[in-house]
Amino acid sequence: MLSAFIFVASLKVCGFVEDHNGAPLNNATVREQATVNTVSTDAKGQFCINLTNTESVLTVWKNGYLISAKKVRVKHDLVEEQVKKVVFTLSRLPENDERYEWLASLHSEMGENTPTHFQPCENCHQRITREWGQSSHANIDNQSLFNKLINSENIALPTAQCMLCHTPVSSKSVASISCDFCHKIIDVDSSDSLLLGKQRISFLKPQDSQVFFGSLDDVARERDSFNPLYKKSEYCAACHQGRFWKTNIYSDYSEWIESQYAEQGTECQSCHMVTAANYAADPHKGGVFRASDTLSNHHFKTELSDVVKAIESKVEFDNQSDGLSIRIELVNRGAGHRVPGGNPMRHLILIIDVVDSNGKPVQQIKGSRIPNWVRGNLPGKAGNAYGKVLVAKTGYGRVSKVNRLYPSPFWVNSYIESDNRLAPMIPAVESILFEPVQNGRISVTLLLREFYDDWLGLGEPKTTTVFFREFSL
Ligand code: HEC
Ligand code: HEC
Ligand code: HEC
Ligand code: HEC
Ligand code: HEC
Repeated sequence: MLSAFIFVASLKVCGFVEDHNGAPLNNATVREQATVNTVSTDAKGQFCINLTNTESVLTVWKNGYLISAKKVRVKHDLVEEQVKKVVFTLSRLPENDERYEWLASLHSEMGENTPTHFQPCENCHQRITREWGQSSHANIDNQSLFNKLINSENIALPTAQCMLCHTPVSSKSVASISCDFCHKIIDVDSSDSLLLGKQRISFLKPQDSQVFFGSLDDVARERDSFNPLYKKSEYCAACHQGRFWKTNIYSDYSEWIESQYAEQGTECQSCHMVTAANYAADPHKGGVFRASDTLSNHHFKTELSDVVKAIESKVEFDNQSDGLSIRIELVNRGAGHRVPGGNPMRHLILIIDVVDSNGKPVQQIKGSRIPNWVRGNLPGKAGNAYGKVLVAKTGYGRVSKVNRLYPSPFWVNSYIESDNRLAPMIPAVESILFEPVQNGRISVTLLLREFYDDWLGLGEPKTTTVFFREFSL
């Protein structure tokens, strides 16, 4: 028997999305909040979506507009005529205002002149604020290498240039890469340009109506907007790629572009911002329960959080009558760029020692040796080093002690003499032959050194042991 009514088995809602003039908006994303249930509006701005709950929040986002949200209640098994119709009117993004003053992240930054029309982010985003405070983006550690360097009297630096990336928000109370700074970004110039940090970034900073951009297209606050850029490496390129005097000093982004990770779509955020949390804002401050893979951490550490875990190593040896051959293979399996990544001062030093049963060093016959640029008493020993080696161009700038150093610090006008840091997945193999030895010991050490002692006048550089292995012969 044919029924006069068509029953809708699921929880269906239909509707219409328009702009302020009532014009239909096509290709807007309609989402049942905090789920993967989405549809897009058609050319007439219309949509229908089957909800999973009788009570849901529906959100709509379109590029160039603020996110809009509505609570909807639906009943099971409605007849077609009774299907709920919801109308969304989206507001355009507000205009930029150059008079904008950056908002504070923390209560402690609320100085006299800090705008008070908006609470510090810490009020509602406690987890994220804590994580951010652990990252060097927060720049709250007076003893950090950067702060020591900038404040060191030994070296005259073009510090204004340094600030463009390191402390782009510089006011008395806020001197960091702050929450507000990062969440007002709308576009980044990721081309191979000579601009640095802040100079490559476009912001939307409306003075009166706060808007935060982020990676969620379903935030129900009528003041936020989604921007796909936040999930892309291009976003990070503004500061993690930088040429000084045309020399590629910071190169995480271009190394990533050249790696297989770029092809696979494994972005900086896919490794550096993975979280296991379920709230973007504190639940009692309006945070919505969300799947952890839609959220991000802000301490920027990876699962393989350091060089120690990022490098896989293999040591093999063969002791014959004509000599002891040792083969060492190092592979960067963890990082989406060369290792060591980040700051160009970092380098790895591989040291191979062989001693006989009396503890006397066994002579090396063939194979690589620690290069001179490592300096100190290590060069010439069996092993190698992996780093970006800079050499000062002559005839430029103030001729100081620092200008004559080899390798050259990155803040001196220099060129890249060599760069053998470990590229992703490409093994570095060292084969070294020693004099024959009866009984004895082999030891293989890989060190990570943060900088050169005489560059900064800051005392002993921090050195970490990536691995240490010993073998008896
Ligand atoms: C260096 C830039 C940067 C800084 C600093 C930063 N964020 Fe983010 N934030 C991002 C990026 C990029 C994403 C998107 C990451 C993703 O989805 O992979 C994000 C995502 C978010 C989200 C969306 C939810 C989520 O978990 O992904 C919130 C909320 C947020 N940030 C708040 C904050 C707050 C609060 C602070 C300061 C305590 C802060 N952010 C500092 C870059 C930044
Ligand atoms: C009064 C509480 C409150 C304060 C203060 C606050 N937020 Fe939020 N914020 C929220 C809530 C609630 C959400 C939505 C969370 C959700 O839907 O899971 C949110 C969402 C966000 C998002 C996500 C936007 C998107 O579409 O991806 C960003 C980014 C963000 N806030 C940044 C900030 C920054 C930066 C500050 C400080 C300048 C700040 N918030 C201060 C409550 C607050
Ligand atoms: C405004 C410039 C800027 C942006 C944008 C930026 N960074 Fe950074 N980042 C820096 C600077 C500067 C440092 C070094 C701070 C220091 O050590 O003093 C840094 C440090 C880091 C570190 C080392 C973290 C630590 O605590 O040791 C990682 C990892 C990192 N950034 C990843 C990212 C990723 C991923 C993005 C994009 C989502 C990003 N950054 C966006 C400027 C930026
Ligand atoms: C496949 C995962 C992966 C991807 C993709 C990735 N990284 Fe990394 N990154 C790592 C690992 C692992 C380390 C630790 C090894 C090291 O410090 O060299 C690291 C180290 C770093 C460091 C040095 C931090 C420190 O203090 O040791 C910075 C800065 C950094 N990454 C930035 C980026 C940026 C910017 C991008 C995107 C252009 C990116 N990373 C993409 C995994 C990744
Ligand atoms: C293009 C952006 C940019 C500019 C300009 C810039 N830096 Fe950096 N700086 C970074 C990034 C990104 C890191 C990498 C963070 C890491 O490796 O952990 C970093 C790391 C450092 C570190 C190491 C921090 C640590 O704790 O290991 C020091 C020191 C430093 N920079 C000093 C300077 C000085 C001095 C200048 C000015 C001559 C300068 N930087 C200019 C982006 C920049």
